[in-house]
Amino acid sequence: MSPAASGATTTAAVQHRCGSTVGLTAFRSVAHPSRGSTDVLPSRSGVHIGGPEPSTSTQLLLYEAPGCPAGDPQSVPDRLEQATPREPSLSRGNPQVTGCPPVVPKLSPGPGWLRAHADAQGALSGPWFAPPGRWPLHDPGRPGSSITSSRALGRWVPNPFDDLTIGGGALAAAANPFRPGMGRIPPDFGGREDALLRARIVVEQLAAAVAPEFVLYRGVRGVGKTALLAYVRQRARELGLATIHVEADRDDTELARATSVLFRGLEDVAAAAPGLSLAGLATVRSGSRGPELAGRADAERFEGLIGDLAELAGRSSRGVLLTIDEVHEAGDVLLGPLLRAAHAAAQDDRPFGVLLSGLPTAAENLFDEGQTYTERLARVDLGLLDRAGTAEAIRRPFDRVAGASVDVAVLDAVHDASGGYPWFVQLWGEALWDLATDPLHIELPVARAAGARVRVRVDDFYATRWRRVPSGRAQLLVQALAEQGGEAAMGDLLEVVDITHQAASPARRSLLDLGICWAPQRGRLAFSVPGFERWVLATRPAEV
Ligand SMILES: Nc1ncnc2c1ncn2[C@@H]1O[C@H](COP(=O)(O)OP(=O)(O)OP(=O)(O)O)[C@@H](O)[C@H]1O
Ligand SMILES: [Mg+2]
Repeated sequence: MSPAASGATTTAAVQHRCGSTVGLTAFRSVAHPSRGSTDVLPSRSGVHIGGPEPSTSTQLLLYEAPGCPAGDPQSVPDRLEQATPREPSLSRGNPQVTGCPPVVPKLSPGPGWLRAHADAQGALSGPWFAPPGRWPLHDPGRPGSSITSSRALGRWVPNPFDDLTIGGGALAAAANPFRPGMGRIPPDFGGREDALLRARIVVEQLAAAVAPEFVLYRGVRGVGKTALLAYVRQRARELGLATIHVEADRDDTELARATSVLFRGLEDVAAAAPGLSLAGLATVRSGSRGPELAGRADAERFEGLIGDLAELAGRSSRGVLLTIDEVHEAGDVLLGPLLRAAHAAAQDDRPFGVLLSGLPTAAENLFDEGQTYTERLARVDLGLLDRAGTAEAIRRPFDRVAGASVDVAVLDAVHDASGGYPWFVQLWGEALWDLATDPLHIELPVARAAGARVRVRVDDFYATRWRRVPSGRAQLLVQALAEQGGEAAMGDLLEVVDITHQAASPARRSLLDLGICWAPQRGRLAFSVPGFERWVLATRPAEV
């Protein structure tokens, strides 16, 4: 079998693997740039379920047209290809490529069958689409039927280790750039120009030993706050900045933990600048093993430590970037001293930067109180990706890493299904890559397969979310919110569940604190993940 040009689609007449009957199966060539080879492999455009006897002059080819009930992502029609073999007779033991015909893209409108006729010279007419039941599979006796005989082959169950095209395989799995998972840096941040620009300004100023403003990124769970901070730290380190990362914790010991992380950062900054004078730094004294923390880790110490860190940054002329994630957990006990010290450092023009991130309500109290040190804190809200953002997050990695183009219809399908929720977008990207059947083009059939895979993960995710909803009123609120389409005025919800504002308040708070809901506006409640309402309504999870 001679491979066709890389990436091209062709068809071939072959002996079916099961060996019982000869039929026509669509083939496509798949280039493997990483392996430097091209394979000619069975296309997944149809499952060959029956075939003609080789000696008959007219042949009927039956392919199962892929399709599922409406609404299922798998029901996106496939592309069908027409085979025009040159050899008049296709006999057993003659697994030759017999033609490289023009590709006839044609969409089947749903489940059904394709049929095509081949004459004695092997020229094909068709294929035609037939809805289920319209043409019986085996109809040798029908008047005018061209079928002389046929029989079912059964399904061939291949081994994915032997056949790399099972479930895709056109792109090397190891090179998959998509990163679904908490805090993982995506290959491309779709729709985050503003957020990245703010961070870039901070990093550039620090690199130039200038005091930047502080930035607080806020958004519901899964919009990419942790990933963004991680990315900015990476870029900051490339520019020679020292970076320190703290993940805030609700635990009482939070300040102790944050303090010890800060302290290690302080040690690194001091160690990188030998000969630096530590004189006058309240929390640091030079010991035989380097600087050590003196005293307890309370709020005052913590504030002092931040101040010293900023001072060190100034003395060593090396910018320090501190990132603090999950600030909503910390509460004012951490934020108060942190922002006070950072504010003071900025007044002294120290190259000390702070990027914070948390749920939409993070630091609300501090802003409400109008503390002066919040003046330098810019707020950037991270929401769901818009259509262009989703498209970029998918399109760019395929283009950059594989030189592959993604069909606009696929990009639209990903946005519609994911609602622009970044974690879902990564799941989609990962699945599209793994299931790609063509190394250069990602088209709807791949999206259909990817959709089925993503749906399993997303359903699991929704189920886990539901399990985290406290039983009782919180569950009632979630169900009522689902009925209202996922966003509603609290007043309307309370009418449905028939409880007072006061009685619902703890339940509402727990939903907000858990990140299951958020308040897009005062007095309103909404699910923080798109599609959760559909899942709740469809699944009707265990009643309270
Ligand atoms: N702009 C983006 N475009 C595409 N994918 C993104 C984008 N931002 C983040 N992601 C992906 O979204 C997923 C969730 O990111 P991340 O864990 O940073 O969210 P988070 O806001 O910190 O969530 P949580 O509040 O639960 O901690 C990751 O897989 C990440 O790669
Ligand atoms: Mg996070």
